[in-house]
Amino acid sequence: MTGGGQGDGSRSTIGIGLIGAGSFGRRLAARLPSVPDLRLVALHDAHPDTAAAASAALGVPATVSVRELIERPDVQAVIIATPHASHAELAIGAAAAGHHLFVEKPLAVTTAGARAITDAAHTAGVTLVVGHVTRLLPVAARALELLDEGVIGRPLGAWMIRHQPLTRRGWMTRRADFGMLLHSPAVHNVDLLLRILGPARTVSALAAPPIQPIEYPDIASILVGHEAGGVGSLGATVSDPLFSPGGTSSARIVGSEGGLAFDIATGRIEHQRIDGELVREVIETEVWGLDDAVTAELTSFRDAIRGDAAPFVSPVEAIRAVAVCEAADRSIALEGAPVRIADLPGMGGIS
Ligand SMILES: NC(=O)c1ccc[n+]([C@@H]2O[C@H](COP(=O)([O-])OP(=O)(O)OC[C@H]3O[C@@H](n4cnc5c(N)ncnc54)[C@H](O)[C@@H]3O)[C@@H](O)[C@H]2O)c1
Repeated sequence: MTGGGQGDGSRSTIGIGLIGAGSFGRRLAARLPSVPDLRLVALHDAHPDTAAAASAALGVPATVSVRELIERPDVQAVIIATPHASHAELAIGAAAAGHHLFVEKPLAVTTAGARAITDAAHTAGVTLVVGHVTRLLPVAARALELLDEGVIGRPLGAWMIRHQPLTRRGWMTRRADFGMLLHSPAVHNVDLLLRILGPARTVSALAAPPIQPIEYPDIASILVGHEAGGVGSLGATVSDPLFSPGGTSSARIVGSEGGLAFDIATGRIEHQRIDGELVREVIETEVWGLDDAVTAELTSFRDAIRGDAAPFVSPVEAIRAVAVCEAADRSIALEGAPVRIADLPGMGGIS
């Protein structure tokens, strides 16, 4: 159903318009010079002071509206790094204008919204890449490589922890703009769960009474039943004072032939086959290795636009991550009753 890009076959420079020049938008823009043939040409931010500051820092003009940005003849692709609830409208508008889309995670706050974006990209024949950058962090990438090589056989159980402090206020505390706890940053770990155990069939979730005055639960546990039979779980909070630099993101995975654990903050990976030796690796990076991973995701965007390679995360995978978040939200409201992914609006036709 979804495109993922048909490629324009061209080797020429791809002009990028940045929509949303806040914290992560600027981080993405700062990595563009490290990707040959991607060039930031203009930006728009809803906040004029933010737009002006980013324009000065990045050396490109700020437009007064999204429309002005997407109508510029030198823009062929957009990066959308705005509050979650705005992704769908912005992405659909840019796709209709014929632009390739790099959308920050989560693709949208509802499965239906995520599906509307992928459908718009498919209809317009443009590439869609979603910023599930955690797959490309050195520790996670190495762990996924080991799992793909079969070091623990077939993965059957995965337990994840994601703790990150919510240090900012504003839209990130508001349900209407942000969504719910799993939408960020824990959606990265949802994506990893799905990457390791395959598509989800059911989700059950419970939330604790809130610690912080925000509009969604700040402590939750989810249990995922996967179509292939494995079980996954994720514990997430934005209210743990005890976290590693950059946040805590760790996992233990059990497979038919062994176990593997990784911790993105400390760089540690351990794995052991049944009756085998314990193998330890420590991957040394800057905090999480995020800058290089951002370069890698933008490189994937360029290559997908050109039709040289599939995006590192497919549009359908991005929908599935949003669906797990939505199912968890619904399950919390049902005091933990399981919610079937296939029943969510937007999942029709996705196998
Ligand atoms: N991949 C990662 O590791 C990572 C890390 C942080 C944030 N993010 C994602 O990046 C996105 C932005 O997060 P952030 O931390 O940069 O937030 P932010 O608040 O720092 O920046 C958002 C910017 O969007 C602007 N904005 C709001 N509505 C807009 C609109 N309709 N059009 C244009 N601009 C608009 C705001 O003025 C603000 O400057 C979110 O999707 C978030 O989840 C990803």
